Amino acid sequence: MTDAAQAIRAYHQRSKHAPDHYAAGPGFLDWDTQPDPFRRWEGADQTTLPLAADQLTTLYAELFQPGAVAPAPLGLDSLGALLELSFGLSAWKQAGADRWALRCNPSSGNLHPTEAYVVTAGVAELADGVHHYQSYGHLLERRCAATLPYQGLLLGLSSVHWREAWKYGERAFRYCQHDVGHALAALRYAAAALGWRVRLLDDWSDADIAALLGLDRDTDFAEAEHEAPDVLCAIDVRAGAAGMHPPTAWTDAVRAGCWQGQANRLSRGHRHPWPAIDAAAQAAAKPRTAPAATALPALPALSLSHCEAGAAALIQQRRSAQAFDGVSAIPALAFYRILDATLPRPDAPPFDCWPWPPRLHLLLFVHRVSGLEPGLYLLCRSADGESALRDAVKTELEWLPVTAAPSPLRLFRLAQANARHAAKTLSCHQDIAADGVFSLGMLAEFDAALAEGAWVYRRLFWESGLIGQALYLAAEAAGVRGTGIGCYFDDAVHALLGLQDSRLQSLYHFTVGAPLLDRRLQTLPPYGHRQR
Ligand SMILES: Cc1cc2nc3c(=O)[nH]c(=O)nc-3n(C[C@H](O)[C@H](O)[C@H](O)COP(=O)(O)O)c2cc1C
Repeated sequence: MTDAAQAIRAYHQRSKHAPDHYAAGPGFLDWDTQPDPFRRWEGADQTTLPLAADQLTTLYAELFQPGAVAPAPLGLDSLGALLELSFGLSAWKQAGADRWALRCNPSSGNLHPTEAYVVTAGVAELADGVHHYQSYGHLLERRCAATLPYQGLLLGLSSVHWREAWKYGERAFRYCQHDVGHALAALRYAAAALGWRVRLLDDWSDADIAALLGLDRDTDFAEAEHEAPDVLCAIDVRAGAAGMHPPTAWTDAVRAGCWQGQANRLSRGHRHPWPAIDAAAQAAAKPRTAPAATALPALPALSLSHCEAGAAALIQQRRSAQAFDGVSAIPALAFYRILDATLPRPDAPPFDCWPWPPRLHLLLFVHRVSGLEPGLYLLCRSADGESALRDAVKTELEWLPVTAAPSPLRLFRLAQANARHAAKTLSCHQDIAADGVFSLGMLAEFDAALAEGAWVYRRLFWESGLIGQALYLAAEAAGVRGTGIGCYFDDAVHALLGLQDSRLQSLYHFTVGAPLLDRRLQTLPPYGHRQR
């Protein structure tokens, strides 16, 4: 095993929560050093983006019908709508004197470690080059003016690990990766609402992405918290757009460009350095790789949602439920539709931008789905995954196929049971895992994935975030609500299935149900602070 593989496995192990031992954290919230949720590039030229998302007529159901949405021309309006619906603010919440912003992309603890950059050439009214998206003002900050080798649009994501570490300590590196996955899926859905495609440029190394986005320009950060590079995507605004230049053509172009801006400092001090996160980030750095050539099998058409909501409205209404009513049920068909949204399809968002084979599968705790016995179920998201799961889990489970489920769903009942107590206990005793209609843990083919390289550790969490975002939107479309759950007891989940080794590891939990709304909270519009 390589040093990097050993290091990332060690990080995974030490960042596990257990009922009698939580991963190392700060122990208390040091409000004096609470990180600013908004990165700003001081001194950079700004371009205010139009708030145009509410003018889109695309329906949510049309996102899943190939060819249903005519591609919007690339301009400031459409670029604004893309960013508004992916990383823009969706509301402000107020309780007494406290006020905080929510965004279209969710984030563990609402800390928002993910930053977004666009690299554009040929967009009217926008200088060619690299721009940072600042969600507070819904504007672009120009970091670099450059002559680029390609007309079009790239979008890159990075993470400020410190934002999550401030609250969650060592486990925060995982949460940053989850958030990247959510952000990538949020981008994919927003692009689909404009009739655009997203291609993940999986051959780029972290160092390439850092060079393109200016994240390796240490003097521009000075005392400010650094950002770690994560993913880079091409946004194809026209059908058939292809042919990208190699990373060096881009990085040479921006190195010759004119950079501006100084990163704002997010916290006035850092009480803890969290070296375990730095070590994990170093071990899981991505090198250049050959482009992945995964051919996802075509699946029978997505069973279309009855949801008649507009795509933009549904994306902007997405929220995390904080409590469920504990009594409502959903029909089996609605349950199947929600599960169906998590399947990797070559022609539907979000997985049509995912160049790698599916590695995650869903262990479901079904509580209240009409027509389905409560109990423990398994959704295998691939044929290979089904074999891996059958090999690894204990033999006395039922593996009863749910024949009523639509054919693309490889859904099995493992045990008929009231799984509410187990679900709650395993998710760090959180009621939301028991009071919804179902909750789940995502089981990753851990050893097989890590055999590809230590950096693939991050990719597994990204995949879990994509699944999470698919669940969030599908839940809203079904008239219920979801919540991501990053706090769970890793090895207790494994013990439930009799897992003896690290072939399968639980990486993320999620819950869905009928939400109870907190009437003490006031909801305010996202951009009331901005003139239209
Ligand atoms: C990776 C991840 C982990 C999360 N873990 C939890 C959790 O354990 N418990 C919880 O109540 N909410 C959890 N959440 C929900 C966040 O608190 C929520 O996304 C954030 O407050 C922003 O609110 P919004 O989703 O309504 O925009 C998680 C969200 C994400 C993306």
